[in-house]
Amino acid sequence: MSGMTNQWWRDAVIYQVYPRSFADGDGDGVGDIAGVRARLGHLRDLGVDAIWMSPWYPSPMADAGYDVSDFRDIDPVFGTLSEAEALIAEAHEAGIRIIIDIVPNHISSEHPWFKAALASETAPEREYFWFRKSQNMPTKWIGEFGGTAWTRVDEDTWYLHLFTPEQPDLNWDHPVVREEFESILRFWFDRGADGIRIDSAALLFKDPALPEVTDGEPHPFHDLDAVHDVYRSWRRIADEYADRALIGEVWMPDVERFTNYLRPDELHAAFNFDFLGCAWDPYLMRSCIDRTLDAHARIGAPPTWVLSNHDVTRHVTRYGRTDTTFSFENNLDGTPVDLELGTRRARAAALLTLSLPGSAYVYQGEELGLWENESIPEDQIQDPMYARRGHTRDGCRVPLPWSGDEPPFDFTTGAPWLPQPAEWKDRTVEAQTGDPSSMLELYRSAIRLRAFKDQRFAWLDRGEGVLAWTRGADFACVLNLSGAPVPLPEHESVLLASGPFDGDLLPQDTAAWLRLK
Ligand code: GLC
Repeated sequence: MSGMTNQWWRDAVIYQVYPRSFADGDGDGVGDIAGVRARLGHLRDLGVDAIWMSPWYPSPMADAGYDVSDFRDIDPVFGTLSEAEALIAEAHEAGIRIIIDIVPNHISSEHPWFKAALASETAPEREYFWFRKSQNMPTKWIGEFGGTAWTRVDEDTWYLHLFTPEQPDLNWDHPVVREEFESILRFWFDRGADGIRIDSAALLFKDPALPEVTDGEPHPFHDLDAVHDVYRSWRRIADEYADRALIGEVWMPDVERFTNYLRPDELHAAFNFDFLGCAWDPYLMRSCIDRTLDAHARIGAPPTWVLSNHDVTRHVTRYGRTDTTFSFENNLDGTPVDLELGTRRARAAALLTLSLPGSAYVYQGEELGLWENESIPEDQIQDPMYARRGHTRDGCRVPLPWSGDEPPFDFTTGAPWLPQPAEWKDRTVEAQTGDPSSMLELYRSAIRLRAFKDQRFAWLDRGEGVLAWTRGADFACVLNLSGAPVPLPEHESVLLASGPFDGDLLPQDTAAWLRLK
């Protein structure tokens, strides 16, 4: 790990591994740690600074592993704890940090705590959850996947779950819950984890009076102030170790409330969902970038840039639609998609996110230009969100294509847990390696060229519909979001371009990195 900078999270490229779908080492059709270890070379060649592993813990998989039954072990489908330790060591040898995913809002209904809580009304574990006596459902709260947030266990007893009934919410007012998670953090830091991604980070606390959600009133379970005390104590723990980062999954429309999580004694970084949801539009993008940079500068935290993850429609697909924004409501499967347009824009977006100040997140498969698989047969859909919201996240969770001409593209020797589109034969790592026009080589080059990452950012005025900025004295990125080709500023050379162009005219939906004179 020598030579790696302090505060690495401030400008890192962080690659999200969704273990079920990265690579399968044992032929059961589900990705695993053995697969990640075998394919670590891909991540080294890509040049990423860190990987974030989505949950790998024992789980009944009611929500693809976000329903954890033991935070100190690995699910057999993914491997063993010693394999996880070996992966951490091998990644470190390759100069790659490891971020693990902690899910504090809820645990699995199969976790020993919840089983004990269900077994007896007087069990101390009962207090670790939100059990309520009531003839009727205690509130009309709508869960995060849609549908009701309470399940009845007998005549008049209910428990709260903001996600599925298999994910009972923990009671964060209880000291044992707090102690348990502090001990889990230490468990993983002691094993060499370099960072923690905190799932649903703003949801932990609930107003114990259980009021209904009312416009203009404080929300009963989003962003309650008490949550900051937890992150302050987590920060103290992280600070006991060298160079550990806490990264929050904070969905928060209010920028002020969002940056509260990034105060100097709280989290190091949080995902920028404002940017992820932003339309492919010069004015909206520019104002989102300004909003992001201003808010983070005020608090001294590094901005982050996220285009895709395991919960949202892949951006090649999003950017190929008429409505290019993201929300769980507007991205219903089946909206017409122009994949060529989406791919062109996704290439330009890569040069945008990799040249703005801060850290960039790459969701596995984005470097291959994968699109959402919208044709998963209904009987193969596994995402619990589908039944509640009519939208499945499975389309962005399809196993990666590595090589060969047909599924399973060497992802597995068995049958992949979700079907891969046959068209991905052109998007395998093998097919793209060495092809300078491929998405993969674009990402490899861009990450390699990111040497300007500590240089000062400044906007460059290039007229209507053009986003352009410099980093330091001799680097510029120009992104053409106007309706016509635009001239490039004076430059010494074009370092990288997201698409072909002749002379000095940059086509629409194309970005270029320039060395300035
Ligand atoms: C987060 C995860 C998502 C999961 C949910 C419940 O939003 O990213 O995949 O379903 O939390 O844990």
